[in-house]
Amino acid sequence: MKKKIIKIKNLKSKRKIVCLTAYSKPITKLLDKHCDIILVGDSVATAFYGMKNTRSISLETIINHSIAVSKGINRSTFVVDMPINTYKNFKQAKKNITNVLKKTKCDAVKLESNGRNYNIIKNIVRLGIPVMGHIGFTPQYKKKFKPFGLNNNDEKKLIDESKKIENAGAFSIVLECVGEKTAKKISKILKIPTIGIGSSKFCDGQILVTDDLIGLSGFYPKFVKKYLNLRKILESTFVKYKKDVIREKFPNKKNSF
Ligand code: KIV
Repeated sequence: MKKKIIKIKNLKSKRKIVCLTAYSKPITKLLDKHCDIILVGDSVATAFYGMKNTRSISLETIINHSIAVSKGINRSTFVVDMPINTYKNFKQAKKNITNVLKKTKCDAVKLESNGRNYNIIKNIVRLGIPVMGHIGFTPQYKKKFKPFGLNNNDEKKLIDESKKIENAGAFSIVLECVGEKTAKKISKILKIPTIGIGSSKFCDGQILVTDDLIGLSGFYPKFVKKYLNLRKILESTFVKYKKDVIREKFPNKKNSF
C-alpha cells in the first residue's frame, strides 16, 4: 500500500484528519500545506459550475480539474471523486478509474455507496487502487437532502454499510450528514478512519467544500462553518475597480508602458 494511504490510516489513532476540496491549482497550493487529504469532489458541479446537483458532471470535467489540482499538490493525499454512472459495474469502473489515475496521478478515488457496489470497491482495491467510501447522504443517489442515522433502524443500516465498505478494503470512509450518535459508533467500530461532513466531532477527520468554508458558494447548510465572507470582500473589491476605471484612476502611470 502507498505510503500516503498508510499515513492516513495511521492518523486514526493519533489526531484528527484535515480534509478539504479543491478544483484549481492556486487553491490547492494553499491547501496543500494544511490538509492531509485534498479531494476533487463532484461538488465542483454545484459549487463551481452552478449545476442543480452533482449528477450532471462529466468524468472529463472531473479529470480536467484534477489535472489542475495535481499541479498544486505536493504533500497531501490526493483523492478524486468518481462521478455517477462511471462505476456502474467492475468493467466500467476499472476502465474509468484507470484513466483517472493515468491522467491525474491521484493517490485514490472516492466512490459513493449505493448499498450495492461493495464488490466493485473490493475488485478495484484488489487492483491495488486505494478507495475512499462515502455513506449517509450520498448526493449521487439520494435526491432529497436529509440527515441519516437518526433512528435505531437507520443506525443499524449505516453500521452494516460501513462495515461492508471496510471489509471491501476501503482505506477511509466519508460520513455525510450522519447523526452524532451513529457517527460516533461507526468511528469506534471501524478500523479505517471516518471523515465527517455534517457528522459531528466524533469522526476521525473532517471535510468541507472549500467554497462553502470561504463563503463563496452561497450554499451554507447548518453543518458549514463560514470561516470567511469572501463574497463580501470580492464585492467591495469589484466596486473599487469599477470606480477607478470610471474615474480614470486605473490604469495609472505605474500600470502603463
Ligand atoms: O463532492 C464532494 O465535495 C464530496 C465531499 C463533500 C465529501 O463528496
